[in-house]
Amino acid sequence: MSTKDFKRYTVTTALPYANGPVHIGHLAGVYVPADIYVRYLRAKGEDVILIGGSDEHGVPITIKARNEGITPQDVVDKYHGIIKKSFKDFGISFDVYSRTSNEMHHKTASDFFKKLYDKGDFIEKTSEQYYDQENKMFLADRYITGACPHCGYEKAYGDQCESCGTSLSATDLIKPKSALSGNVPVMKETKHWYLPLDQYEPWLKEWIIDGHKKDWRPNVYGQCKSWIDSGLHPRAVTRDLDWGVKVPIKGADNKVLYVWFDAPIGYISATKELTPDWEKYWKSEDSKLIHFIGKDNIVFHCIIFPAMLKAEGSYIMPENVPANEFLNLEGDKISTSRNWAVWLHEYLEDFPEKQDVLRYVLTANAPETKDNDFTWKDFQTRNNSELVAILGNFVNRALVLSKKYYDGVVPERGVTTDFDNEVLEAIKAFPEKVSKQLDNYHFREALRETMNLARLGNKYLADTEPWKVVKTDEQRVQTIMNIALQIVANLTIIANPFLPFSMEKLRKMINLDEMTWDKSGDTELLKASHQMNKPALLFEQIDDKAIEAQVQRLLDTKKANEAAEHKAAPQKESISFDDFTKLDIRVGTILEAEKVAKTKKLLKLTVDTGIDTRTVVSGIAEFFKPEEIIGKQVSILLNLAPRKLRGIESQGMILMAEDADGKLVFVSPTDVVKQGSEVK
Ligand code: 2FM
Ligand code: ZN
Repeated sequence: MSTKDFKRYTVTTALPYANGPVHIGHLAGVYVPADIYVRYLRAKGEDVILIGGSDEHGVPITIKARNEGITPQDVVDKYHGIIKKSFKDFGISFDVYSRTSNEMHHKTASDFFKKLYDKGDFIEKTSEQYYDQENKMFLADRYITGACPHCGYEKAYGDQCESCGTSLSATDLIKPKSALSGNVPVMKETKHWYLPLDQYEPWLKEWIIDGHKKDWRPNVYGQCKSWIDSGLHPRAVTRDLDWGVKVPIKGADNKVLYVWFDAPIGYISATKELTPDWEKYWKSEDSKLIHFIGKDNIVFHCIIFPAMLKAEGSYIMPENVPANEFLNLEGDKISTSRNWAVWLHEYLEDFPEKQDVLRYVLTANAPETKDNDFTWKDFQTRNNSELVAILGNFVNRALVLSKKYYDGVVPERGVTTDFDNEVLEAIKAFPEKVSKQLDNYHFREALRETMNLARLGNKYLADTEPWKVVKTDEQRVQTIMNIALQIVANLTIIANPFLPFSMEKLRKMINLDEMTWDKSGDTELLKASHQMNKPALLFEQIDDKAIEAQVQRLLDTKKANEAAEHKAAPQKESISFDDFTKLDIRVGTILEAEKVAKTKKLLKLTVDTGIDTRTVVSGIAEFFKPEEIIGKQVSILLNLAPRKLRGIESQGMILMAEDADGKLVFVSPTDVVKQGSEVK
């Protein structure tokens, strides 16, 4: 079926796990492109729904609950609220944002399973699975960790390696360990239900390998082909857990549906919640189903969920799955557990009213064909040199000049020059150029084309120089300004899917209602004599201070992570008791302290050791001011052979403890003791 035969669009976005807030990686990979796409389709007058919701089941949730000592329901209630609000404030225009812990979803997922079960579509199998004897539970998915058999990453999960993205089974892991107790698990028998993916192989081959080679992204097609080529196997769709959708059959107590079985059904449950007419979006061949996801979700959306839908029998298949690669942050992989992320709700607090700046940066730098990196410097540059200097500057010049010359009334277009006509033709060509990219899910390129329209506006004003011509040819300036204003009006339509907040602001400034996409390319959107409103700046410069604050926050996170990950040095070789007793360590008091001239690190200390008063040179000047340490009791190694440091003989060594980031602290008695007391 070709594009134009579709009557409606069902657009889904991966349901984020409600175990943490949403970050820029989620936005760039899934929600920003999906939102651009549906805003564009709505402008075209299409029947389109944007489906979203929180994924509230699965081990990511129960692990978080366990770590925080709260219930899984507490976890999902908290994060569902944060996520839903931040999406709304960011302008992701969901028609419904649901959650998988609600009743409608439990019933929908449960009925779906039951239907397949009753038809005999599952294989029932008892097998041995990893079990944690201490916690008395089977170790599904993220409850088990080990080394990835593909890339060697040591913290791979039982269902997936987060380093190389490979989907795994717990038994694939090398040196498996329980994530709960750290113990080596034992094997124990348990019964589960499996979807026989192998039976769908011929159909999947025909549908994807033969049918979607040309229209699916190479990364998506490639991953699917490699899965299919390496042979599909039955896949368990149930788990021994107590959090999730209960398996709706007898003899399945304490078992729930695998989260990846119930979550995609969440798209259907959410549509049911949205409209009683939900079936037309899911069961009608003239509906176009599109899944927006990140690359780690490809196999679930292109192979497993389609196989489930095929087994059920009454659903349509996705037409396309425009999965993105990953977005990194300042050179490192984004990680929820390591707090290495720019969190959407925090961004919105720090940059209120700047939703479009982030939308712009994430689209201009979208990881469509390869992993990309987000840096705060690039964020600043794209704002200052692109949004402000290109788009904002053009709009501002056009509106300020119109205000100045005509008090905001659109002037008549008089006789046009060849150059004017060229520009008018160029305006007409833009909608198609942008549409072509959007229809093919090339959002970066679509945005680049859109910015070219603003570039055209800047060039037009720079070449025609109305501010000079106004002194000699009033009529000519009217024509120039009329044409410039048509470019502004066109931008409110074409840039709207990408920058909805700013374009709304701009529509108010030019006093123009929201227009449908078919009006774009029209060079008379603003009629002569139309009264516009007062202009204001569309975008503002972002200064270094704001960027430095964000970079500092990341540096703090890095430091905290390094400290948390710091491992104490391994024990040194054993020594005899006699060796130890050779050390003469005493408690002494620092009497005097002064910096050693021309050094950064050295202090010259005079210490009362109880035996004598001696000089010790110590490398602690970076951590202590001389006056702070006078009178302090410290441990001192007395019988270290004297040595000269910067010409001063040091007669002993002050004992210090060094922490993970190199900071030194004294090893001192906790109570005052007599000078010369032995430390042993
Ligand atoms: O990877 C994830 O974050 C999953 N929660 C995505 C689920 S998508 C869909 F199937 F619900
Ligand atoms: Zn791996």
